[in-house]
Amino acid sequence: MRTEQQTLTFDITSNAQPMAEADRLEAFKALGFGTLFSDHMTVVRWSADRGWHSAEVTARAPFPMDPASAVLHYAQEIFEGMKAYRTADGQAVLFRPDQNAERFNQSAKRMGMPEIPEALFVEAVQKLVATDAKWIPEGEGSLYLRPFMFANEPFLGVRPSREFIFCVIASSVGPYFKGGAKPVTIWTSQNFTRAANGGTGAVKCGGNYAASLIAQAEAAEQGCDQVVFLDAAEHKWVEELGGMNVFFVMQDGTLITPPLNGNILPGITRKSLIQLARDEGMTVEERAYSFSEWQADAASGKLKEAFACGTAAVVAAIGKVKFPGGEFTIADGQTGQTTTRLRDLLVNIQRGRSNDRYGWVQPV
Ligand code: PLP
Ligand code: COI
Repeated sequence: MRTEQQTLTFDITSNAQPMAEADRLEAFKALGFGTLFSDHMTVVRWSADRGWHSAEVTARAPFPMDPASAVLHYAQEIFEGMKAYRTADGQAVLFRPDQNAERFNQSAKRMGMPEIPEALFVEAVQKLVATDAKWIPEGEGSLYLRPFMFANEPFLGVRPSREFIFCVIASSVGPYFKGGAKPVTIWTSQNFTRAANGGTGAVKCGGNYAASLIAQAEAAEQGCDQVVFLDAAEHKWVEELGGMNVFFVMQDGTLITPPLNGNILPGITRKSLIQLARDEGMTVEERAYSFSEWQADAASGKLKEAFACGTAAVVAAIGKVKFPGGEFTIADGQTGQTTTRLRDLLVNIQRGRSNDRYGWVQPV
């Protein structure tokens, strides 16, 4: 497999039929999540004999695909989620893109796919943001970036593909949850788990999400916004949500978050919040926390707050937890002080409103 660094120049074709300015600005007003796409996409191809080649920024368009394309049969596909923000002075910025590149390559390794040089990954993202910068909404919206890679060899044998397409698309987004900044309600899945030891829980492959959809549908039926998964072996330990990591804030100010045990996604928001919290003097414990502890701590008042975090959701307070046969509320069910404080610390760095002493923010 050729995965070594190759110098590629991006062909930039402006053959997109851009959405009319007035229509785009109108569409921004009703921003939901992931439905409004920008004009262009970045594509880089990989084949076993040529390595990475044919880098381009081009009009967003469907891929012609052979019905035998490997991804359609064996789901050899991975992705990332990141955002571009516009700072007060109009500059487009990315948040820790190197971390997404690194995680993408962890996913690639686990899924038998070629790794992409980190610099090429970041350049592909930057090129798209630079081309479609006008798609970054004003105000609290952002441009959600979706780098992904899929197997594209027409072949029905079960082995890694010899052809892949890497692509980045962009979507102007508002809040992930319909209720905006309101605390969310979480459904605890008893019927379904997300990841088992030795599986793919720690990487971002499409299959993990395909398998979570039925649990998410169950959550929606129960009037919940998201599903929280317990571990597959004992069905006891809290792992993560369908698309977010989870934190608990205890009465003494300690934060608890499930450890990176190989079954949960190592969230970049999670990692950043752990650092911000520690630098604020908070104690953060990465440790196993059971569902029964969660329930008992909520009942006794030992648990003051809980929140979900991720690129799409940012930091969202968890107000209520439902499970088959019952439910409990966390404190008064509202967004707590620590959740608000951590959210503000993070968002202010991402949007260039406070000093980025970590060097997390990269101009485009
Ligand atoms: N866990 C899952 C399953 C996710 O899909 C995501 C989102 O990407 C996260 C956690 C949070 O990761 P990050 O903070 O890097 O967006
Ligand atoms: C993200 O936060 O980027 C994700 O991929 C999660 C998904 C639920 C949108």
